[in-house]
Order: sequence, then C-alpha cells, then structure tokens
Amino acid sequence: MASSALHCRPHQRPGGSKIDIAVLASGSGTNLQVLLDDPSIRPHIALVVSDRPDAHALRRAADAGVPTETVLWSDHTDRDAFSAALAAVVERSGAKAVVLAGFMRILGSPFVLRFPSRIVNIHPSLLPSFPGSHAVEQALQHGVTITGVTVHFVDEQVDHGPIVAQVPVHVEEGDTVETLHSRIQVEEHRLLPKVVQAIIDGHLSVEGGRARWL
Ligand code: GRF
Repeated sequence: MASSALHCRPHQRPGGSKIDIAVLASGSGTNLQVLLDDPSIRPHIALVVSDRPDAHALRRAADAGVPTETVLWSDHTDRDAFSAALAAVVERSGAKAVVLAGFMRILGSPFVLRFPSRIVNIHPSLLPSFPGSHAVEQALQHGVTITGVTVHFVDEQVDHGPIVAQVPVHVEEGDTVETLHSRIQVEEHRLLPKVVQAIIDGHLSVEGGRARWL
C-alpha cells in the first residue's frame, strides 16, 4: 500500500479548501468526542460509522448532530464484502478521508485501496511495538518502561503503515491495564485533534512511504 502512495500529496486541494472526514468507531468513542468538541473539526465530520449498533460513539455523534451509519459484520459474507459496503457508505457521505478511532474490525483492500493515504488510525502503543487489540496489556507483560500513542496511516496490515505522530507515556510502578490506558488516553485526546486538523487542512501526505507534514 505504501508504495502506491509514493510522491503523491493526496490531501492538498487547490485553493486551500478543507477536506471532510468520516470517523469509524466501535466503542465508547472518547476520541471521537474530542473531535466533536473541537469547533474547527466538528463541521468537517461528515459521518460517524460503527460496526456495532450499541456503540456509545454513535450516541455521541447523534448528540452532536452528526449523521451516523451502522455497517454490521454479520450482514456480509467476508471481510472484502464488509469493507466494500463500508467504503460505499463513507463515499456517499462525501468524506474524502477516514479516521479510525477505536474501530475494532480489520479493513480489507476494498476499503483501504479506495482511500489511498487518506486513512489514519490511533493505537495505544509506540508502534511497531505491540500491534493488535491487547497493546496496553502486552506493554505491561513485557515490562517496558515507556509506551505511548501512535497515529499512523493505514495500509492492509494490522496497525501498520507510515507513522504520522507518536507521544511517549511512562509506565509507572503498580500500573494496571486500566491506569496505564487512562494515561495513554489523555495523550490520545491531545494528539488526535492535531493530526485530524492537519488532514482537514490538507497538511499531511505520504511521500516515499513516509508520512510528511506539509
Ligand atoms: C483507544 O485507546 C485507541 O487507541 C484504540 O481504541 C481505543 C478507543 O478508545 N484504537 P475510545 O473509544 O476513543 O475511548
């Protein structure tokens, strides 16, 4: 995937116009909430999509007056069919970029290839350490003293793609998954709006397989 993005500046738009985004979330949606609460980001959220009809993220979006959609995994035969349906829903909204904010499904190529270098994910570790859904637990198990937050462009591998930004978080004596994750989330909530604003403004691109702030 990264190779298809070589030397392109997909987020730059003539005349400096802004880019609308879709946010995909499966759970509580605290990261989504930070985006909804930001007056310069909120008008550019065209849609919030979840794979879970009961995701609290959908309630947060509805409360903010943002359109929502649910695309159920169980309505589709396989990952590609699910990914294609999701891509169609996002395209219909007019969104040109996608933010994965706690979206717990792996996206297949029918989605990823539809938005080349226009999908970012937030992950609770310093990638490439601890990809997957148990990143905080694994950081504790390994006894690392520093973990953190990564925002990265998404390719077809799990928690993989050009890294946009990282923030370290120190592991403290006696940390549990809950205490460490809550300190990581404080940093997530600071970092994600900065990256999303850069996407909306067309100030982020991928060049030579690396993320570049313009
Ligand atoms: C965050 O920790 C994020 O890094 C991970 O999923 C979690 C989502 O949290 N991908 P929330 O739903 O935004 O509170």
